[in-house]
Amino acid sequence: MAKTVLVTGGCGFIGANFVRLLLETRQDWQIVNLDKLTYAGNLLNLEDVSKNLTYRFVRGDICDQALLDDLFQEEQIDTVVHFAAESHVDRSITGPAEFIRTNITGTFTLLEAAKKSWLDNGLHSDQCRFLHVSTDEVYGSLGETGYFTEHTPYDPRSPYSASKASSDHLVRAYFHTYGLPILITNCSNNYGPYQFPEKLIPLMLNNGRQGKDLPVYGDGGNVRDWLYVQDHCEAIVRVVEQGRLGESYNIGGHNEKNNLQVVELLCDMLDEQLGLLPSGKERRSLITFVKDRLGHDRRYAIDAEKIDQELGWTPKYTFEQGMKKTVTWYLDNQAWMESVIDGSYQKYYAKMYGD
Ligand code: NAD
Ligand code: DAU
Repeated sequence: MAKTVLVTGGCGFIGANFVRLLLETRQDWQIVNLDKLTYAGNLLNLEDVSKNLTYRFVRGDICDQALLDDLFQEEQIDTVVHFAAESHVDRSITGPAEFIRTNITGTFTLLEAAKKSWLDNGLHSDQCRFLHVSTDEVYGSLGETGYFTEHTPYDPRSPYSASKASSDHLVRAYFHTYGLPILITNCSNNYGPYQFPEKLIPLMLNNGRQGKDLPVYGDGGNVRDWLYVQDHCEAIVRVVEQGRLGESYNIGGHNEKNNLQVVELLCDMLDEQLGLLPSGKERRSLITFVKDRLGHDRRYAIDAEKIDQELGWTPKYTFEQGMKKTVTWYLDNQAWMESVIDGSYQKYYAKMYGD
């Protein structure tokens, strides 16, 4: 069914991959991408598709109620896919305030706009959807065994995960209190094209490419469940179209790896594609164990049975396939990486917006 979808945070990593997927596979959907263009938002991520007639970009803040109200009315938004957030755990440790503002107040403001536009105008819940994109980090940290299910009690432990947990609760409250037609997805670690090089995989790729140190936190034994970003985006489309209202769906890659394993695999792939370092050494020799992240969650692992059983979604990419595509993308798009590292990606649009 044709939709008019407001994608928030569409210039970020997952949002940009999601917009691209919609443009390819849902050509009868109108897409409005609302993004504040923080350091993590990059217009270059969608430059080649920005002239598409079903796509519109709006620069703006999800905390701006008047802007949201106008946008809902002007565009007759019937679907929200809400990615916009401060997303990096390390930044939430050194500067939590922006996480509270965007992730909690911003989500609240967006919920209010949807409620006003849909419920106050008597729209039936069949006609609209609010999908909140969240994280497995709301469940806390696992020991060596066990998995997060949708029934695992929330136990967030960083300012980032606490802000996401708070927004999840607000979204659920709008379902129970007002009947807003919401859905929540809680996903594990994504990787793939357009990820900002502050996150483990693109950071290591960029350093490894340049022969710089590869800083592994603590003992490198922390485990994440890695999922190729396209798989996550396809799961979100599935939940928007077929998910049961008011429900949460866990999304994961069935792919637990500790950080050292991930970095070693990357080193080997880079050695294969670029040859050994000028010194003749393998890139594994660049691995350096550094001071651990404060409150570093030890292990995340997703039980993704529910989305498989109810909606028939499972990931398509194995870790090796996804990593090969990722390494190739970053090596083929070194100009993108350079512009992010030297900040010129922001200069590119600063003139347009008078920043
Ligand atoms: P990202 O940091 O790459 O992108 C975030 C985007 O939101 C940027 O384009 C930024 O400009 C925009 N933004 C930030 N504050 C805004 C505001 N106040 N108003 C409007 N736009 C704003 O993030 P990502 O990794 O793509 O993550 C997207 C979403 O998915 C987040 O909600 C995150 O919590 C969730 N998530 C991420 C992962 C992951 O592994 N990256 C896993 C599970 C869930
Ligand atoms: O689990 C989902 C979450 O995954 C998302 O909600 C977050 O938005 C996303 O950033 C990601 O959080 P992590 O903290 O797991 O991702 P990050 O890439 O920052 O770190 C992955 C692991 O690698 C983590 O155990 C910390 C470690 N690490 C990270 C960096 C940046 C290092 O060892 N060295 C590094 O330099």
